[in-house]
Amino acid sequence: MQKKLKWTTFLCCAFVCACLIGLGQGIAAGGNLDSIHAKKNITCVDCHGHQKPVKGDTVENDVCSRCHGTYETLAAKTVNPKIPNRNPHKSHLGDIDCAVCHMAHQPSEAYCNGCHSNYKMKIPGGK
Ligand code: HEC
Ligand code: HEC
Ligand code: HEC
Ligand code: HEC
Repeated sequence: MQKKLKWTTFLCCAFVCACLIGLGQGIAAGGNLDSIHAKKNITCVDCHGHQKPVKGDTVENDVCSRCHGTYETLAAKTVNPKIPNRNPHKSHLGDIDCAVCHMAHQPSEAYCNGCHSNYKMKIPGGK
């Protein structure tokens, strides 16, 4: 009896801990692109094409563009009036993968900033 009680206590603690860790991760990831989409009921299948994405999976640009338009459409929306040639969607990088900057499951980062450290571009779902 004594032994059983200890086990249930242990299992209870383990369960509570697991929940707290899970919750912590949920909050930490709360502002990322995945949750921005989840709030609009856009889930795994809408980006990945299937319900159970696995490690190494990515999402091609044409999937994003179905909802958000092509680079050309996006570039028209993200002109910086003060510095018109500093456009995240129209640059010497060409039509690179959206996910280079828009990382879905971790904070996004404007890749431009890595080389042009003076740019300090902000990005939705970024830190
Ligand atoms: C807004 C579109 C979008 C949604 C919604 C989305 N993902 Fe992703 N996911 C991506 C992109 C983009 C990548 C590739 C990230 C990269 O290349 O850095 C990715 C990568 C992944 C990977 C591979 C990660 C790795 O380290 O190899 C897994 C697993 C994954 N997603 C699972 C999910 C699950 C589960 C859901 C639903 C809860 C989901 N994704 C919803 C866009 C999305
Ligand atoms: C099924 C349609 C759909 C797909 C696929 C999709 N999105 Fe979205 N995305 C949305 C909607 C809807 C929103 C929320 C729009 C809003 O709140 O203005 C959103 C929000 C965003 C935002 C934030 C916009 C803002 O102004 O804050 C970014 C960035 C974004 N998506 C990029 C992507 C990228 C990159 C991909 C591909 C990996 C992708 N999306 C795939 C529909 C989609
Ligand atoms: C080089 C980095 C980079 C790449 C690659 C990139 N984006 Fe962006 N994106 C940004 C930045 C930075 C912003 C914020 C711009 C702003 O606020 O003016 C942004 C904003 C957005 C927005 C919100 C636009 C709005 O109306 O305010 C969407 C949607 C989006 N990107 C989708 C995409 C899609 C889809 C692709 C691929 C076809 C893509 N982006 C490729 C950096 C990038
Ligand atoms: C891998 C490094 C790298 C990345 C990433 C990068 N650039 Fe550049 N960029 C350069 C180099 C090198 C030059 C040429 C030297 C110069 O003029 O500073 C340049 C030149 C430029 C110029 C012309 C010179 C100027 O400053 O007016 C613009 C505009 C520019 N980049 C915008 C961007 C934008 C917007 C992004 C993101 C979409 C970006 N760059 C991403 C390295 C990079």
